[in-house]
Amino acid sequence: DMAEKGGYDHFMLKEIHEQPKAVKNTLREASEIKKIVQSFPKFNRICFVACGTSYHASLIGKYLFENLVGISTDVTLASEFEYSAETLDENTLVIVITQSGETADTLKALRLVNHKAKTLAIVNVVGSTVTREAEYVVYTRAGPEIGVAATKTYISQLTSIYLLAICMSGRMELLEKLESIPDYMESILENEDFIKKIACKYKDARDFFFIGRGFSYPTALEGALKLKEITYIHAEGYASGELKHGPLALIDDGIPVVAIVPPGKSHDKTLSNVEEVNARGARVIGLGSSKDEDLRSETMDMIEFDDEINEIFSAIPYVIPLQLLSYYISVMKGIDPDKPKNLAKCVTVE
Ligand code: G6P
Repeated sequence: DMAEKGGYDHFMLKEIHEQPKAVKNTLREASEIKKIVQSFPKFNRICFVACGTSYHASLIGKYLFENLVGISTDVTLASEFEYSAETLDENTLVIVITQSGETADTLKALRLVNHKAKTLAIVNVVGSTVTREAEYVVYTRAGPEIGVAATKTYISQLTSIYLLAICMSGRMELLEKLESIPDYMESILENEDFIKKIACKYKDARDFFFIGRGFSYPTALEGALKLKEITYIHAEGYASGELKHGPLALIDDGIPVVAIVPPGKSHDKTLSNVEEVNARGARVIGLGSSKDEDLRSETMDMIEFDDEINEIFSAIPYVIPLQLLSYYISVMKGIDPDKPKNLAKCVTVE
């Protein structure tokens, strides 16, 4: 068992550490993706469909395709797709994202498209059902993922989405930036002991909030999902601009708020949200640039990132400390993070 886990205590921790390699291997698909993109007809709309963590990857896709490719993009939960599928046409590309390639809701959505639009699947498992039914297939190269809570498959999905968006936009110079991410991820993983300390400090909290804007909003959702899945702590991910429309009523003394505040367009507004929760007594865990003294002064704990990581690419590195935070809280609570109760790796029922 220990050998299978490569010396790590759990598959999840092993898989978190395999992420730089997973990104590197997925980047090798660049020329394949370029070929696929060259064979595309002209699309005027992209429609992502997915569940769970793959849905969060899709949300990053929306920000990316709209910002980089300038193509109108929507994202639908696979289980909701049948209630909104009627406007598809041949100018639409439906992208389904599923690590397993077997999720029932996602398969059902794919079948509902039924040649009304073009379909592309981003999948990790070679030969899975989805790969036989979608017109175009892009493989993530994460390798097998055993932990129920997705980690390296998520990061690999993001990598595939970036590759697709870069190829569709023709902004090939961005590839270089993307290729520098795996090394940078290694440096974040070296900071693991610091995250462990943070986990110890906050593990007994009853509720958590995760906030971010733009590219950091899906990261907030994913951070909250990881925490729910493997620690059973109540967690909510929020677009930070929505705080004032409800959740602020719940912010009081001591509640942990994880704020994702990379440098970039969304920075100043999220920072002002951080000030708001801070003023109400929240304990803020900030994720941001090591040079961001304004953020530091508003946080109880600060998880630092290289200033060079711009907002567009921040989604890949910034999620790693959130995965580790959930992992360590899970272990400290005596939970098996690889097998959370009531959840399955692959959900084959609608
Ligand atoms: C299950 C897993 C999640 C996963 C989701 C979607 O809920 O526990 O980790 O994100 O299914 O799975 P898929 O294979 O479609 O990506």
